[in-house]
Amino acid sequence: MGKLGVTFTAILLFGMISCILDHVYAEPLEDKQALLDFLLRMPHSRLLNWAPNTQCCSWIGITCNADRTRVVALRLPGVGLSGSIPSNTLGRLSALQTLSLRKNRISGPFPSDFTKLGNLTSLYLQYNKLHGALPLDLSVWQNLVVLNLSNNEFNGTIPPSISNVTHLTTLDLSSNSLLGQIPNFNLPNLQFLNLSNNHLNGTLPHSLLRYPSSAFFGNNISSEVSIPPLPSPLPPSSQSHSSNRFSESALLGIVLSSCAIGFMMIALLMLFCCSNKERDRNDGLKPRKGKTTKKKKRVPTETQEERDGRITFFEGSTLAFDLEDLLRASAEVLGKGTFGTTYKAALEDSTTVVVKRLKEVSVGKRDFEQLMEVVGNLRHENVAALRAYYYSKEEKLMVYDYFSRGSLSTLLHGKRGQNRAPLDWETRLKIVIGAARGIAHIHTQNGGKLVHGNIKSSNIFLNSENYGCVSDLGLATIVTPLAPPIQRIIGYRAPEVSDPRKATQACDVYSFGVLVLELLTGKTPLGEGIHLVRWVNSVVREEWTAEVFDVELLRHPNIEEEMVTMLQLGMTCADRVPDRRPKMSDVVQMVEDIRRGDSRIGTGTYPSSEVSTPTLASLSHLVEVGSVSGTPQ
Ligand SMILES: *[C@@H]1O[C@H](CO)[C@@H](O)[C@H](O)[C@H]1NC(C)=O
Ligand SMILES: *[C@@H]1O[C@H](CO)[C@@H](O)[C@H](O)[C@H]1NC(C)=O
Ligand SMILES: *[C@@H]1O[C@H](CO)[C@@H](O)[C@H](O)[C@H]1NC(C)=O
Ligand SMILES: *[C@@H]1O[C@H](CO)[C@@H](O)[C@H](O)[C@H]1NC(C)=O
Ligand SMILES: *[C@@H]1O[C@H](CO)[C@@H](O)[C@H](O)[C@H]1NC(C)=O
Ligand SMILES: *[C@@H]1O[C@H](CO)[C@@H](O)[C@H](O)[C@H]1NC(C)=O
Ligand SMILES: *[C@@H]1O[C@H](CO)[C@@H](O)[C@H](O)[C@H]1NC(C)=O
Repeated sequence: MGKLGVTFTAILLFGMISCILDHVYAEPLEDKQALLDFLLRMPHSRLLNWAPNTQCCSWIGITCNADRTRVVALRLPGVGLSGSIPSNTLGRLSALQTLSLRKNRISGPFPSDFTKLGNLTSLYLQYNKLHGALPLDLSVWQNLVVLNLSNNEFNGTIPPSISNVTHLTTLDLSSNSLLGQIPNFNLPNLQFLNLSNNHLNGTLPHSLLRYPSSAFFGNNISSEVSIPPLPSPLPPSSQSHSSNRFSESALLGIVLSSCAIGFMMIALLMLFCCSNKERDRNDGLKPRKGKTTKKKKRVPTETQEERDGRITFFEGSTLAFDLEDLLRASAEVLGKGTFGTTYKAALEDSTTVVVKRLKEVSVGKRDFEQLMEVVGNLRHENVAALRAYYYSKEEKLMVYDYFSRGSLSTLLHGKRGQNRAPLDWETRLKIVIGAARGIAHIHTQNGGKLVHGNIKSSNIFLNSENYGCVSDLGLATIVTPLAPPIQRIIGYRAPEVSDPRKATQACDVYSFGVLVLELLTGKTPLGEGIHLVRWVNSVVREEWTAEVFDVELLRHPNIEEEMVTMLQLGMTCADRVPDRRPKMSDVVQMVEDIRRGDSRIGTGTYPSSEVSTPTLASLSHLVEVGSVSGTPQ
């Protein structure tokens, strides 16, 4: 009976393990081969980590489906692909839903086997050098929602079969050399259409009258509809009256003068453009300049990108994006800090990254790049991974992973007084442990000389295991803010620091100590009129024990001992005298010991009330020794 049980358990275990292994190691082998066949014949300038002996689902630009049986997205924008797409390669990725090869130098005709990709929902090929005709039969794209082929050299006609791509919501064919008559396609879901800057002629089909005139600029489409449908100054009802020839001619006058004003503005814009920037050398194919201000902004960015180099990506990044993505996607502001603004950027669809955009700072290119190399190659579970960076005179960006739970600052202080989810002790402990490990690891880098320089709760995040994860390291040591720092940051700054660029590892230990006190008290370091370190010291000296801890923590039973030990640790780290602060590696030990204490508490052997009082007494001793700064306020 027992033997049977053992055998059964073994089989079950084996089954589970092989199932797990299958899940981890599964990969779509045929899709992988198709990708390798593709890349082998496509020269490219950015290094891609597509090694045959590695999992293709973790390659740059590749997304697999959940059970890793198919490749569902391929995104390689701006990686310098050149030449024409070899046939019978990408066309084999039959489960592909998103294909983005925009901003490369792909030439040749439209890859005809893309029309085999029946599950495609988004196709982005803009900014390449593709020419010739578009595929005649587009009906296979039954799921296609977004098609962007703008800024290529397509010089055929628009195939009438476009009217069979019924799910299309976005169609951008602008800035090509498409010819002939626009077919009469009526796509009920099509919300965005742009056919501007082509060689289209004839009359505009009625089905397309609902789109703005800017969708057709820069073509030779017959005059009656190519006059921009200006907002009528008269309501439509009075226009339809038979007896107002006079108002019709008045209307014509308005239209004509508006056209003249519009023409003058375009001429002025052209003058402005020509005097302000060098011509993009690739721009020869599109001599027309009926461009809006929006477009104008974008062009210098591109030339800038070409002049100052590209985004630098780090090893292990499966992300693929370009500068335009980062700037365009920057819709949601996560926070404004000393050095600039942090945005949440959603790329094309699924991936989300955090973009830190330095503003009002002075930092040298060399310093910046050196630091980025150190930080970008540092991989530790408690240090937020820098994925990429960009430096030009106008724009300095850093791209980090996105942490969905937000910063510690938000978790700790957000929505206080409203019904927020309290941050429990277990979580706070893990945050402290993680942050300590992360900072200790940073301190081992660069020959043991690397300094974080800006430890504060808004730079601490929660990693996937909910341990603290440190972000934004090193910047403070190379960047000079042009505006004075905000109070909140000064609260973390060690008393000996006058120039943040000269911060030491001991200063990091101080800031970490402040962070610990912040976590214990739930108070911001320089908020509510208190100086946190001084306040904690005064409270401890007066032995108002109940006052010091965050009320959210008081509901948890049996944690006083740990909290008091942690308080002691925080105060030791935030010692006024740098030499008396422990090394970060020792701090890690101490924090981990607190957790070991936690498991003992869990067994219920130590009634906490008995232990906490003596420990507090030892804290008072700490204060008396005079190791902590300041006067109570
Ligand atoms: C295409 O999508 C459909 C519906 O989502 C799915 O059933 C089919 O298996 C997909 N085709 C491929 C080749 O993955
Ligand atoms: C399109 O352009 C290619 C080269 O750019 C040229 O060979 C071809 O004749 C052109 N086709 C049309 C219809 O103009
Ligand atoms: C298509 O690509 C061009 C060039 O990148 C871009 O300006 C345009 O906004 C895109 N169209 C849509 C609908 O996203
Ligand atoms: C649309 O598809 C149907 C059937 O698939 C076909 O008969 C028709 O010719 C197509 N229309 C165009 C304009 O290609
Ligand atoms: C439109 O352009 C095509 C080719 O460029 C030309 O053959 C045709 O005559 C033109 N049609 C009109 C109405 O101008
Ligand atoms: C179409 O693209 C051109 C630039 O290629 C732009 O000037 C125009 O505003 C766009 N139209 C629409 C409707 O977005
Ligand atoms: C625009 O088309 C008309 C005929 O529809 C033709 O007379 C005219 O020359 C064309 N203009 C250009 C610039 O091609």
